[in-house]
Amino acid sequence: MKNRRILIIDDDPGIRETYHNILTLKVKKEILSKGANLFNKKTNHIKQKQIDFKLSMSTSGEDGIDKVRTSLENDEPFAAAFIDMKMPGIDGAETSKKIWELDPDIKIVIVTAYSEYTPDDIIRVIGNDEIFYLRKPFNPEEIKQFARVLVKKWNLEKEKKLLSENLKSTNEQLEDINKNLQEKINKQAKILAQNEKMTSIGILAAGVAHEINNPIAFIKGNLSAIKKYNERLMNLFQMYGDLEDSINNKDSKSITDFINDIADYKRTKKIDFIFEDIISLGEESLDGAIRVENIVKDLKTFSRVDKSEFMDTDINESIEVTLNILRNETKYKIEIVKNYGKLPEIKCLSQKISQAFMNIILNSIQAIDEKGTITISTKHIEGRRRNDNVVEIIIKDTGNGIPEENISQLFDPFYTTKPVGKGTGLGLSITYDIIIAHGGSITVASEPGVGSEFTIKIPVDMH
Ligand SMILES: Nc1ncnc2c1ncn2[C@@H]1O[C@H](COP(=O)(O)OP(=O)(O)OP(=O)(O)O)[C@@H](O)[C@H]1O
Ligand SMILES: [Mg+2]
Repeated sequence: MKNRRILIIDDDPGIRETYHNILTLKVKKEILSKGANLFNKKTNHIKQKQIDFKLSMSTSGEDGIDKVRTSLENDEPFAAAFIDMKMPGIDGAETSKKIWELDPDIKIVIVTAYSEYTPDDIIRVIGNDEIFYLRKPFNPEEIKQFARVLVKKWNLEKEKKLLSENLKSTNEQLEDINKNLQEKINKQAKILAQNEKMTSIGILAAGVAHEINNPIAFIKGNLSAIKKYNERLMNLFQMYGDLEDSINNKDSKSITDFINDIADYKRTKKIDFIFEDIISLGEESLDGAIRVENIVKDLKTFSRVDKSEFMDTDINESIEVTLNILRNETKYKIEIVKNYGKLPEIKCLSQKISQAFMNIILNSIQAIDEKGTITISTKHIEGRRRNDNVVEIIIKDTGNGIPEENISQLFDPFYTTKPVGKGTGLGLSITYDIIIAHGGSITVASEPGVGSEFTIKIPVDMH
């Protein structure tokens, strides 16, 4: 709803009447009707035009100020006021000043006779140059135009104010939403990163459990065989003890008996075989124990999570460690081809680098449906400049490949083509961060249906 309220302050009743005639619809309609009659036309189709201002009249400055105050209290402010300059009591300039103190938004037109004041005088008194100025005797068109323009200006300003308030509160709301969203994303990212860690740990634990289980199973079998053998050998030993006693007692009858018993026992209990077997059981068990020991050693290297410092690292060894941990995942379907070059040790966050390899190799394993090959090549590229002196690692698979249009998103966090719950899409983004943190680079080449190749370069000397 537009505000079309106008306040007229003038002590002269004739002038107030003129305002009334100029600015209200009734007059307009009458004029139009008169015109229509002249041409013998019906008046009922004559549209009410723009002149529908709501006028309030005051006969003095004091009364005008009161009206403004009441209008504000009723929340029905005036859009504009036409104020006569010369009135009994306070004059137009003083009135304007007071009105503006009450309502800074109202548009004020000072109406004055030629001889009285100059606009500069009025501005000086009021202390505000937002004043409009109209000379008496006035032209009705001028009054109408002022009224129209000023009412419009008032409404536009109001609208602008409302809009900017709305905009402000919308902005605030957006900021809130944004903040909430950011918090949610951070929280989610943390959960996902944690999941990623858990997945790696899960795979690691499963692999390790499997690898340790094997040797432990046969060590256990060997030990129970050894226990059984041990009982027999103890019995045999006992029989030899008895034989010894009879020899000491020179009891020839029982000596023969004992010797026969011993021969029988040795035959039926396969003592000769036991002697042979016990040696290989021992060797096998030792072998198994060494395997378990190695797995645990690898695991320790891999999971030195808390010691995040840089250490001299043999990249070939890091890859080996990673492969050992993933052996359970690879052994039935994947042939691993290794082309290790001779590498200098590089100073790096060893366990992070292993994690980077693990993420890439895991992806390769997951990209191979049935049987396939993963080829891992390493070499030292010696450049003159420090940045060119790098260790290059190429991990190539014969998996299902990556369509060209997906390559650009590959390293983005949460980018995954794997089913919900399978991939978090963080593997490569973590890998990327690790490699970049080492001043290195990672690139990918891939052909759908043929395979993918990830090339990593890590500077030998980071600093
Ligand atoms: N060797 C590869 N062969 C084919 N596609 C790959 C290969 N490596 C990565 N991708 C594609 O890139 C996507 C992103 O890999 P990334 O390791 O970041 O996430 P993910 O494997 O989907 O999930 P996560 O590693 O968190 O379990 C994969 O979903 C897959 O589509
Ligand atoms: Mg992955």
